[in-house]
Amino acid sequence: MNQEINFIIRNADENDIPEVMEVNLRTLPENYWYGFYKFVLERWGDIFLVAEMDKKIIGYIMNRVEDARDPVLYGKENELIKEKKRSIEDIMSSFKNMFSESHKVGHVISIAVLPEYRKKGIGTALLNEAINRMKNNYGTEAVYLEVRVSNKDAISLYKKMGFEEVRIIKEYYRNGEDAYVMVKKL
Ligand code: ACO
Ligand code: ZN
Repeated sequence: MNQEINFIIRNADENDIPEVMEVNLRTLPENYWYGFYKFVLERWGDIFLVAEMDKKIIGYIMNRVEDARDPVLYGKENELIKEKKRSIEDIMSSFKNMFSESHKVGHVISIAVLPEYRKKGIGTALLNEAINRMKNNYGTEAVYLEVRVSNKDAISLYKKMGFEEVRIIKEYYRNGEDAYVMVKKL
């Protein structure tokens, strides 16, 4: 039976930070200090969201908006697709892109849902709302994130939401694991 659960997605505020930190500590090895959460919240509070159930925070998503000059990050190039042959025009155009004006992109810093509340659509709801707000409030062209190459659950969620792997960053994580950069064009 598919049990319905009642959660709401709302903006985080400063009082939520300790609970958000607790969710993060219980779910991910990438942890941040209080001041970092506070800074992100002050700067991009409209895209810092929590999932709440019975007054308890069970998930969060934290994002920022950046100016990207790297065509991979704004969804113009994919390093993991081997092109048959790059024409001189392509090479010139990538070269030109490096110096061209920057592009607004959303960056998912961190998303997590407590283990006992997973597979109920909460991650999807958090990501969906954050993406809509990044697009509508900031005019971002794309959203990107890094994820462990072994993180099947997260990668599958991102793919379902239209993200694509576009780059591998070798030994991105402290234990030496590689990251995929994944991008969704908006
Ligand atoms: N009944 C059954 N299955 C469902 C339901 C439902 N009502 N709703 C959604 N699902 C399925 C989805 O279809 C999806 O299926 P899939 O396994 O085929 O992909 C799966 O459940 C997950 O979707 P959601 O429920 O929307 O996502 P969830 O709330 O489980 O959160 C998340 C996903 C955030 C990745 C979670 O697994 C998590 O917290 N992991 C640990 C932390 C983590 O790895 N975070 C990402 C790090 S990378 C970064 O932060 C940039
Ligand atoms: Zn990142």
